[in-house]
Amino acid sequence: MEKKFKRTTVTSALPYANGPVHIGHLAGVYVPADIYVRYLRLKGEEVLFVGGSDEHGVPVTQRARKEGITPQDVVDRYHNIIKESFKEFGISFDVYSRTTSDVHHKFASDFFRKLYDEGKLVEQSTMQFYDEKTGKFLTDRDVVGECPYCHKQAYGNQCEEGCGRALEPTELINPRSKETGETPVLKETKNWYLPLNEYQQWLKEWILEGHKEWRPNVYGQCKSWLDMDLQPRAMTRDLDWGIPVPVEGADGKVLYVWFDAPIGYISNTKELCDNEPERWGSWEKWWQDEDTRLLHFIGKDNIVFHCIIFPTMMKAHGSYVMPDNVPSNEFLNLEDDKISTSRNWAVWLHEYLVDFPGKQDVLRYVLTANAPETKDNNFTWRDFQARNNNELVAVYGNFVNRALVLTHKYFDGKVPACGTLTDYDKATVAEFMDVKAEVEKLLDTFKFREAQKEAMNLARIGNKYLADTEPWKLAKTDMERVGTILNLSLQLAANLAIAFEPFLPFSSEKLRGMLGMETFEWNQLGSTDLLAAGHQLGKAELLFEKIEDSAIDAQMQRLEDIKKANEAANYKANPVKPTVSFEDWEKLDIRVGTVLECERVPKMKKLLKFKIADGLADRTIVSGIAEHYAPEELVGKQVLFIANFAPRQFKNGLVSEGMILSAENYDGSLAVTSLLREVKPGSEVK
Ligand code: 2FM
Ligand code: ZN
Repeated sequence: MEKKFKRTTVTSALPYANGPVHIGHLAGVYVPADIYVRYLRLKGEEVLFVGGSDEHGVPVTQRARKEGITPQDVVDRYHNIIKESFKEFGISFDVYSRTTSDVHHKFASDFFRKLYDEGKLVEQSTMQFYDEKTGKFLTDRDVVGECPYCHKQAYGNQCEEGCGRALEPTELINPRSKETGETPVLKETKNWYLPLNEYQQWLKEWILEGHKEWRPNVYGQCKSWLDMDLQPRAMTRDLDWGIPVPVEGADGKVLYVWFDAPIGYISNTKELCDNEPERWGSWEKWWQDEDTRLLHFIGKDNIVFHCIIFPTMMKAHGSYVMPDNVPSNEFLNLEDDKISTSRNWAVWLHEYLVDFPGKQDVLRYVLTANAPETKDNNFTWRDFQARNNNELVAVYGNFVNRALVLTHKYFDGKVPACGTLTDYDKATVAEFMDVKAEVEKLLDTFKFREAQKEAMNLARIGNKYLADTEPWKLAKTDMERVGTILNLSLQLAANLAIAFEPFLPFSSEKLRGMLGMETFEWNQLGSTDLLAAGHQLGKAELLFEKIEDSAIDAQMQRLEDIKKANEAANYKANPVKPTVSFEDWEKLDIRVGTVLECERVPKMKKLLKFKIADGLADRTIVSGIAEHYAPEELVGKQVLFIANFAPRQFKNGLVSEGMILSAENYDGSLAVTSLLREVKPGSEVK
């Protein structure tokens, strides 16, 4: 039988404070977590929503090095930007703190020390690369060199640009320190390991036997880990950014970022509880009471840390509850390409807010509609526009607006009395109730995408009801019936405000204001008595606005520009072709010609037809550059062409007597070759 819990602790992955957050973060973790928490709160359940920034780890130090600032500067900057973005998007954390806080440093340090004191960690020495110039050990990603398999440039942990193989830094040919270019030396180092192998049996029983209900992607990843022999995993690192290892003789070592970050969930809870004990009680209640249900919302790259490593840490510690579920999403792509911070291929939340002010709910809606719950999914700007215009505006917004505007028109904005319900009215209410039950079932099982779809169906029911009953046509003959229809429509609108609150909190708040609703609880959903007859409504405003093509075109152009910039940055010239002899070269007769005429070729959209003065006679040359030049740009210009190229005939009978030389740019665009100084037509190129 399913266990009844008294309260729920919801965590959402702590984002690295080494850059701003983008739509992938929102879709993968924060919107689903927020929907769930808002739903529980609306149901009146006791819930705590923990967030915060992950401020340690190599990515932060790499960013600092790149920008020539300190790691603390980096995290100070991005912690604030990230925190603000979440606030703007209504991610309703009860606490959002950071892993550089004093509370966290002490908490994580004590946690480690307890495991150490109780002999739960094992000490191991390994040989690791060391840069003698900086006097630092190098992490796997700080070492670069040649891949032993495909011979491309690779990192110490993976050959990213070439064959993709996972590597050990010692496998690299000619390894170098990424920072200094020095050849590193191998040096012995001692670290403390969590013996995952000792917990494997327990993990198998707890997850593989006890949590078959977890999402298939999560369960499957756990199973593939647990089917292998787990190895002890280092919980300390030779680094100078992080929480110092609280053990004698551990100078220059810090806690592994994946040791301290999840403890951040607990220390952030402690910070909140210590600040507001009357409101939140003790932190232990949220982490150690067996009546507490723990849920971790994460992305798929975090599964092993939240299902295997962190639970093992908590188990080894001894007093903690285990996660009851780990609803992890897959990844969101952007316009069919992987979101990437380094390639700037992302929609950054702080930039979205500038381009689409006040449209936070639109993005929340679209990201949930495309949530990568079971497989990777795709965000496109055209879909964003279509969902806004065809669903939010045309269905939800339209229904609510009609109900309000008609009430203002016929009843001075006062909720009319409800007369006798017809069978059709009753059927509408019944249909509404069915959908409500479905939304709940889906939310309870973390199927947010489907749940939102069902919530939108509630709006569809309302829209259809108004379209079918056509109260505007009855206004002259049967005001009592008009009153009943509008009463019911307004009750449905009030229901929508509740049903959509977890998904679209800003719009719900606006709608609630327009309807003048006082109470607001999930349990009221399905009631047709939410607004009393005679109750005065607020002003009717539009809930959503149409998004024009121009706004979408601007976003597409931005992405196009980024793609171009990336292509240009990554361009590598083709390898040189096999050597040719002087005699071979001499066979080509390359000459200068002056363009006398240039025109498009009917029905051949790539071709331009040239009349060229070549110093002997005029000749016709056809060239496939119509997509790169307007004909008039080239008239009067001197170009290089191969004069002894065998004539070529095109389908339409046109014959080209030579070939104009063009250079192909990285993006496939063509640039015609010309001279730096004018010469006589027919001059030979030597
Ligand atoms: O993958 C990430 O972005 C990590 N910073 C997530 C950490 S989650 C938790 F453990 F704090
Ligand atoms: Zn390789």
